[in-house]
Amino acid sequence: MNGLELLTTTRAFRRRLDLTRPVDRRYLLACLDIAVHAPSGTNRQPWRFVVVQDPAVKQQIAEYYRKGFAAYLSARTPRPDQLADLASGSYLADHLHEVPALVVVCSLGRPPADPSTLRGASYYGSIYPAVWNLLLALHERGLGATMTTAHLAYEREIADLLAIPFDEVAQVAMLPVAHLRPGPAAPPARRTPAAELTSWDIWTL
Ligand SMILES: Cc1cc2nc3c(=O)[nH]c(=O)nc-3n(C[C@H](O)[C@H](O)[C@H](O)COP(=O)(O)O)c2cc1C
Repeated sequence: MNGLELLTTTRAFRRRLDLTRPVDRRYLLACLDIAVHAPSGTNRQPWRFVVVQDPAVKQQIAEYYRKGFAAYLSARTPRPDQLADLASGSYLADHLHEVPALVVVCSLGRPPADPSTLRGASYYGSIYPAVWNLLLALHERGLGATMTTAHLAYEREIADLLAIPFDEVAQVAMLPVAHLRPGPAAPPARRTPAAELTSWDIWTL
């Protein structure tokens, strides 16, 4: 896969996850080593990772996730074009405990209480590039994942479960990781073309 293919075909992988094949720690660590090449504000490198493979712990996280996902679903009226994504989201929620590895991505420091754009951009902008790097590195090796956040409604409970020091470290995302089942390559993601979203010199959108 060349770089452009990788960038345009790294999707939210849910139904294609192979729930029966374990994921070797060495694969995960190799991909995490790519994740940590991401940029961060003043090169803080705030990322920390907890990889959960213990079935009993995955089961507990999945229960929190399912509650969070159900609340998310009940609070919204999806557009017709979002129904397929939500259906596959429900599939993932139902099977989360079966996914071989759950990578909980953490960031040192709590998110800023001051909601200014600058502070928020600095905090989240210093961690999400690492998440995306991880998704790309996984896909490049024939693994797949989805960026998920539904469990964060229960961040404190999951912090207790995983012994994450809640006051000093925030969970920002969880990636359920598995090998991809054989099948046709994912088509490039359908997105609104950039030309419709870009103005030149002055905002015209
Ligand atoms: C910040 C963020 C949070 C997300 N949270 C969830 C989630 O909790 N559960 C889930 O199934 N997908 C989640 N997604 C995945 C999106 O639904 C997915 O990236 C989007 O629909 C595009 O999918 P595609 O690349 O396959 O077209 C999240 C994505 C982002 C960027």
